[in-house]
Amino acid sequence: MGQRIVIVGGNRLAGTVSVSGSKNASLAIIAGAILASEGVTTIHNLPRIGDIATMADVLRHLGISVSFSEDGHSAHIDATNLTSHEAATEIVARLRASFWVLGPVLARLKRARVAQPGGCNIGARPVDLHLKGLQALGARLDATHGYVAAEAPDGLRGATIYLDFPSVGATMNIMMAAALGEGTTMIENAAQEPDIEDLGNFLIAMGARIHGHGTGVLTVEGVDRLRGCEYRVVTDRIEAGTLGLAAGITGGDVFLDGANPAHLRPITLKMAEAGLKVKEEARGIRVVGPAGRPRPTRLTALPHPGFPTDMQQAFTALLCVADGTSVVTDKVYENRFRYLSELGKMGAVAEVDGRTAVITGVPRLTGADVEGTDLRASAALFLAGLRAEGQTRLSETQHLERGYECLVEKLQGLGAETWREDESGGGRLALCSA
Ligand code: EPZ
Repeated sequence: MGQRIVIVGGNRLAGTVSVSGSKNASLAIIAGAILASEGVTTIHNLPRIGDIATMADVLRHLGISVSFSEDGHSAHIDATNLTSHEAATEIVARLRASFWVLGPVLARLKRARVAQPGGCNIGARPVDLHLKGLQALGARLDATHGYVAAEAPDGLRGATIYLDFPSVGATMNIMMAAALGEGTTMIENAAQEPDIEDLGNFLIAMGARIHGHGTGVLTVEGVDRLRGCEYRVVTDRIEAGTLGLAAGITGGDVFLDGANPAHLRPITLKMAEAGLKVKEEARGIRVVGPAGRPRPTRLTALPHPGFPTDMQQAFTALLCVADGTSVVTDKVYENRFRYLSELGKMGAVAEVDGRTAVITGVPRLTGADVEGTDLRASAALFLAGLRAEGQTRLSETQHLERGYECLVEKLQGLGAETWREDESGGGRLALCSA
């Protein structure tokens, strides 16, 4: 039986909500734990979401032992018995980030085989930059029959690699492979996302020698071995931004406990432009929405430190009710506007031309039955539902549940009227204890 999320719009959200650990940093760090040939790695502050469980399964299929604490927020990973160099295809198909095990497995076993991740609802998403980087480190690659098989019988060796585009995943894969290579690797035009910085700090805690992570030039001096360590993942800037926008779109007042102001700056600056009040405090960020309608703005999603593409959809939901016309461009993905047709069912007015959408703000949205086509699209529809008159019923909720920890419960805690139910219209479902 499928599930849906029901949202009754109109409540002004208020209170304090705690921000979970970063999904994307956690996924990378779990892949990075493969590199430890001695000791156990303990990772804290993991979000309890479907994607993390899937990544744990990818590791288990490689022969690695992974267990979680009772609350699900910490994992113990013992990779000393890495036995298989082949990632399980059916699991890789479910999670693009599982392709990130390619670099670490190759570095440990001198060979690796992983299914090519497919395209998805937001564009083609090739892996050519990952492959170019690993090739530059001396790997022999065979990308045929839907798989990437990599071999480096004599080990990997340092190289200077220039990325045509600062890909997050390619930077991570190359940096993890190079950590156990021989000599120095320099990645130019590296991705600078906070998730890269966090992965770099984690690898350093394992004994890696890395400099410049979080900047455009990243250097890795290879070491012979890495060992398990204890590490706490940073908080999720995209979840924090989404919860802040929930305050903004409802004219509410919410404190984002644990949000990192430096990581959120590209988002909070745009929030201020749109008329939201943002106050950075010692433990987090307070966001207060305008009493009337937000202001329109221009927004371009770019690699970090630009405005994050993963926040583009949720921010656009806010602009749908702005007092004027906004222009939103996504320079990271070629097809990340599909959700606008769903928002249209709620009364939003948008025109898309390639990578740019022109949003004409409307005074009111109305609740409707809508489908969450991907994770961030679902978040945008949820936010619109909080503002809309009447009931919104969001289907295909599996996307939302795999990426946001207990979003329904967190918003309930702030005063939203929202619940999960089975699609036959039966009783309310409680899935999450936040
Ligand atoms: C990461 O994906 C995130 N995923 C994405 O989060 C995020 O949208 C993206 O970075 C950009 O910030 C995880 O961390 C698990 P990229 P990744 O490689 O690494 C093109 C979410 O909603 N490209 O930086 O796959 C690619 O097609 C998600 O949480 C190449 O052309 O992103 C895309 O247009 C979804 N060749 C652009 O670069 C390559 O070899 C950015 O991709 C690699 C990428």
